[in-house]
Amino acid sequence: MPEGSHGRVLIVGAGHAGGTAAALLRQHGWSGPVTLVGAEERPPYQRPPLSKGLMLDKVTPDDLHLKPHKFYAERDIELLTGRHAAAIDREARTVRFTDDSTIGYDHLVIATGARLRKLDVPGIDLAGVMSLRTADDALRLRAAIRPGLRVVVVGGGYIGLEAAASVRSLGAEVRVVERESRLMARVASAPLSDFVAGYARERGVAIELGASVCRFGGRDGRVETVQLDDGREFPCDLALVGIGVVAEQALAEAAGLDCQDGIRVDAHALTSDPAISAVGDCTRRPIALYDTHARLESVHNAVEQAKQVAARLCGKPAPAVEAPWTWSDQFDLRLQIAGLIAPADEAVVRGDPAKGSFAIFHVSPAGVLRAVEAVNAPLDFAFARMAIGKSLRTPPARLRDPAIALKEVALA
Ligand code: NAI
Repeated sequence: MPEGSHGRVLIVGAGHAGGTAAALLRQHGWSGPVTLVGAEERPPYQRPPLSKGLMLDKVTPDDLHLKPHKFYAERDIELLTGRHAAAIDREARTVRFTDDSTIGYDHLVIATGARLRKLDVPGIDLAGVMSLRTADDALRLRAAIRPGLRVVVVGGGYIGLEAAASVRSLGAEVRVVERESRLMARVASAPLSDFVAGYARERGVAIELGASVCRFGGRDGRVETVQLDDGREFPCDLALVGIGVVAEQALAEAAGLDCQDGIRVDAHALTSDPAISAVGDCTRRPIALYDTHARLESVHNAVEQAKQVAARLCGKPAPAVEAPWTWSDQFDLRLQIAGLIAPADEAVVRGDPAKGSFAIFHVSPAGVLRAVEAVNAPLDFAFARMAIGKSLRTPPARLRDPAIALKEVALA
């Protein structure tokens, strides 16, 4: 794109990342056409409440829209829903859609997100075996839940545990089946996994660890049992499968962009093609504070990369480097995790797990705070996020000492 001229930005994928990129482009003064195309029929919406607020009837899908419908018209953002991109022609700078239409671009932003990992076992297609990714999935699940229903949740990660807590709170009987030896192993340390398992069990959730589902049994096309590798079988009226996601990178891969478990982008969300950015769950990105690359699946990542693209295209300064973070609500627990945990880090607990409010700080061998897991401890979390972002030193002996206030713990 010639310097100073604002051409057409086409954003493929209208989730949190794509929707935020469109809004920020306008906020930063992009004057060229902006087209935002999504596969779902809804405008961009927040997914985190699907397994919590929506399950508990606190919000409806319309409450979750990132922006009201009229926002897009008012900002001259062309929003096209229900459209699936089929191929990118990098030479011609066009995207073809499955309805055979094409849209041209000067700059393309791929924001295709992630798709659910499939559980490849017999019976997966039985009625009553569900998944949860979209608002429609959440509405179907909510409509099926009633007190006393026997629900088996396959996968003890974010979706599985949040849905288990919600469904249990609605009076269903819940059993979580997790393949690993502990819950949330992808994102949490062992002490947090153990705490979360204990908390859920105390609230009546049965948890099977190190357990693999080998088939769903059914009658008349409807699920009735879940069978495990070790021969155990549990009756169930409904099964929810939440065993992770894979990056939706097929479009980028077919177009020859550099992909490796995610579309490779630089610290400004630019792909290996200078005319194409990628943002959100579909990317593998550098993590500045950790000298590594990772695929991050979080709202923070979606928003941060959207900021990077909008700032770069509009010639504004890049956003400040921040530690990656996520949160999860389960029963009355608010879990907040920031940073990346490394095996060599020392875990230091402040607060009292028995009282349900504490934080686990992860400190590097050099004494630098690298990650935090906070449980109903928002102030500890806020301090730690700031300290991680600034690579402050928090010597374990000082962290452990409750007489030293957190703000006094950190050394520059
Ligand atoms: P996840 O990766 O958090 O958890 C998947 C879990 O399933 C892991 O614990 C894994 O060990 C387990 N698993 C994998 N294969 C299995 C198998 N065959 N049998 C039993 N367990 C198996 O992914 P999840 O929970 O499915 O969430 C999907 C996406 O939604 C993720 O990107 C997640 O970050 C996002 N999400 C985030 C939330 C948050 O940040 N609070 C809330 C809900 C979803």
